Amino acid sequence: MDNWIDYYDSTHTIYVSRRHRDLHFQVIADDIISYIPSPDAVVLDYACGEALSAGRVAQACGLLILAEPAPGVRGRLIARFAPNLRIKVRSLDDLRHIDPQSVDLAVMNSVAQYMTAEEFDTALAVIRRALKPAGRLVLGDILRPNVGLVTDVMALLRFARRHGFLKDALVGLAATALSDYRQLRSHFGLQHFSEAEITARLAAAGFSATRAPANIGYNPARMTFVATPQPAAR
Ligand SMILES: C[S@@+](CC[C@H](N)C(=O)[O-])C[C@H]1O[C@@H](n2cnc3c(N)ncnc32)[C@H](O)[C@@H]1O
Repeated sequence: MDNWIDYYDSTHTIYVSRRHRDLHFQVIADDIISYIPSPDAVVLDYACGEALSAGRVAQACGLLILAEPAPGVRGRLIARFAPNLRIKVRSLDDLRHIDPQSVDLAVMNSVAQYMTAEEFDTALAVIRRALKPAGRLVLGDILRPNVGLVTDVMALLRFARRHGFLKDALVGLAATALSDYRQLRSHFGLQHFSEAEITARLAAAGFSATRAPANIGYNPARMTFVATPQPAAR
């Protein structure tokens, strides 16, 4: 396994059970829906993963573009959502050819931590070009410096206890401890950003950003930012 995209394309154990996986995508979908500005909005989910609740998101907007780099995951998205005319599935490369200023809301949740600096800047440039002048980018699940695995484990256990899958979570965590995830996390690492760092990176890409009161998903130790395109300097 060479990188995080390969990991997400494999039969990984990041979700401890089917219930955890389904709840994860339901919570993310509800949070995305809360940012949709109007029922006819064009929404882009950048590196959406399995997006199991994307049907719900699509019901709340005019068009949902699911972009995913992992080819196996993308194949499943195409098969799953083929009958849904409000959903289009794309690779990240396809997004370079998307109509400029055609997207109302772009969401990139739990992705920046897996990217190199160059990949992150490229993603921001692609999204900046795709967004309408009044559009918004929601960048979720950003890891702060000095917040590590223990905080993530505690957030998962609290989520599991609340939704009745604590036993599965404990078994799953033991499996994860022995898995590729832990090796990859120590080998490739995850990118962490302070609030000031992420704001500066977004500013360099032409966005003005503020931190949202709550993170997308169920890990309150991580941060979400809402960014709006700044008019290009003349
Ligand atoms: C934790 S999942 C998040 C999926 C979804 N956005 C969510 O919130 O559930 C991480 C996603 O990032 C993608 N990914 C991993 N490394 C990446 C990279 N270097 N560039 C772009 N996407 C990447 C994976 O394919 C996967 O879809």
